[in-house]
Amino acid sequence: MNAYPIGIFDSGVGGTSIWKEIQHLLPYESTIYLADSKNAPYGEKSQEDILKLSIKNTELLLAQNCKLIVVACNTATTNAIAYLRRTYNVPFIGIEPAIKPAALNSTAKKVGVLATKGTLTSSLFHSTMQNHAKDITIIEQQGKGLVELIEAGLLHTDATRNLLESYVRPMLNEGIDYLVLGCTHYPYLIPLLHEILPEGIKIIDSGEAVAKQTQKVLGEGLLLSASETIGRHQFFTNTDANLLERFVSSVTKEKTVRFLDF
Ligand code: DGL
Repeated sequence: MNAYPIGIFDSGVGGTSIWKEIQHLLPYESTIYLADSKNAPYGEKSQEDILKLSIKNTELLLAQNCKLIVVACNTATTNAIAYLRRTYNVPFIGIEPAIKPAALNSTAKKVGVLATKGTLTSSLFHSTMQNHAKDITIIEQQGKGLVELIEAGLLHTDATRNLLESYVRPMLNEGIDYLVLGCTHYPYLIPLLHEILPEGIKIIDSGEAVAKQTQKVLGEGLLLSASETIGRHQFFTNTDANLLERFVSSVTKEKTVRFLDF
């Protein structure tokens, strides 16, 4: 089973930010990535719909013999991972806004969290906040519209910069010193954030932590690849293969990016 691929899914291209970290840490693993761009954004959908889409993606990956599934989407993790773990017999790795390290390190005791509506309204997000951020102020901001802009490939436009700034400015006015990126699409906005944020404001995203957790869980389950050749990577999108290709093209040649009607 250890030669089987790691399955990864997201509502679109954003989870490639997680895939990059996994591929970097675990170069001998093969992966299958599903970009459900047709149904993006998940963040504005009901919990029931997010669950249905997460089940669809999971079953497709399991049909391809994936040995472990990375839910590379905060919205799907916070709304569906408990059900997925109860229902399917493979390990699942999820991603949630990294409030804990921000809360531990914030000297201002004020942390901003930029995430989707689906994540910010989930009970998992609220229990994480209760457990790890009791003595600090969390300033939540929904990033409505940002996922759509990233899915359109508009990473460096004035429209994207202005919308992002309109979300971040009120948090800065409140005096945050940490900004937690609670959506796997948002790391693609880091170059714009560096332009917007004053020096000293730290950005936290959880991609590297997810890759380390994937390595740990594969190791514990004796599922790490024993191969000595670089892994193969298959990417599927139900919209535009050229767009997905742009997000992963710089990283590896050992890959295919294809359209699949799922
Ligand atoms: N990448 C997803 C996340 O991490 C985006 C959610 C969406 O499609 O709205 O939450």
